Amino acid sequence: MPAHFESQVPRYQARVNAALARWLEHPNETPQQLLAAMRYAVLGPGKRIRPLLCYATAELLELDPGKVDSIAVAIEFVHAYSLIHDDLPSMDDDDLRRGRATTHRAFDEATAILAGDALQALAFQVLIDDPVLQADYPEHQAGLVGLLASAVGPAGMVGGQVLDLAAEGRNLTAAELEDLHQRKTGRLIEAAILMPAKLRPTRNETDALQLRSFATLIGLAFQIRDDILEVEEDTATLGKSANSDTANAKSTYPSVLGLEQAKRRADELYAQAVAALDELGANSVGLRWLCDYIVQRHH
Ligand code: IPE
Ligand code: IPE
Ligand code: MG
Ligand code: MG
Repeated sequence: MPAHFESQVPRYQARVNAALARWLEHPNETPQQLLAAMRYAVLGPGKRIRPLLCYATAELLELDPGKVDSIAVAIEFVHAYSLIHDDLPSMDDDDLRRGRATTHRAFDEATAILAGDALQALAFQVLIDDPVLQADYPEHQAGLVGLLASAVGPAGMVGGQVLDLAAEGRNLTAAELEDLHQRKTGRLIEAAILMPAKLRPTRNETDALQLRSFATLIGLAFQIRDDILEVEEDTATLGKSANSDTANAKSTYPSVLGLEQAKRRADELYAQAVAALDELGANSVGLRWLCDYIVQRHH
């Protein structure tokens, strides 16, 4: 039985921060300005929710955290790249991220674009070069690369970002909105659970289905909560503009369904996610804590 997850959170965050910094130490191979922008975007004060999902999934499957460090790093690199590009003038045009200037404001636009490109490539390199995966799971490396690529590629996160931009100023149906959110954010969150799960089978096929279902539900709930926070919290609390969605006439859960319906949908997904976890036994306490955190967080 793992120790209560909440007390482990700072340790896991420190653990992934150290691993992220380690993979960004190649001063002789990378132009200095590029490396500085990559480090700025990655090592800022992010919540590290996706790495925490990786470690909580490792706890569920009784895997040592060291086995999933590189998966957590790869996912966080892709996440950081997605934020750099999401904030660009041609996308959401935001100046503030994690309480600091966005990467294109702190550096310049071309450097920011290229830092994002470099982080995406580095994410896949980490999955291939990690000595732990090479030694213990060489048969799974190609599968991990495939999972991450499909989660963030044209049918996943990038496709979702295209739909998000195309939806500005339009009236989407609830089904279109759900598909957009599932892709732009849900798929990467889902990968943070499904990639570690690739390393060790669940107790049985029913558990595998419940875990997959939990991953999908919590991925969507995460983005609905993000939309609600932008309505309910201020810029200082969020560390990013509380006015961005309105300024860009984005299709969000509150704008399409109304705030009350958006909250009801988040509650519904939360209840379904908890029900899926209940089937997975006592080792799912970490995922349960994260599930509560994701739908109750204030930033
Ligand atoms: C924000 O993600 C971007 C979305 C996909 C909604 P997070 O809320 O996880 O951002 P950080 O990493 O903590 O800054
Ligand atoms: C971000 O979505 C999704 C990705 C970066 C892939 P949003 O644009 O809604 O997130 P924030 O509010 O800027 O963090
Ligand atoms: Mg966006
Ligand atoms: Mg944005």
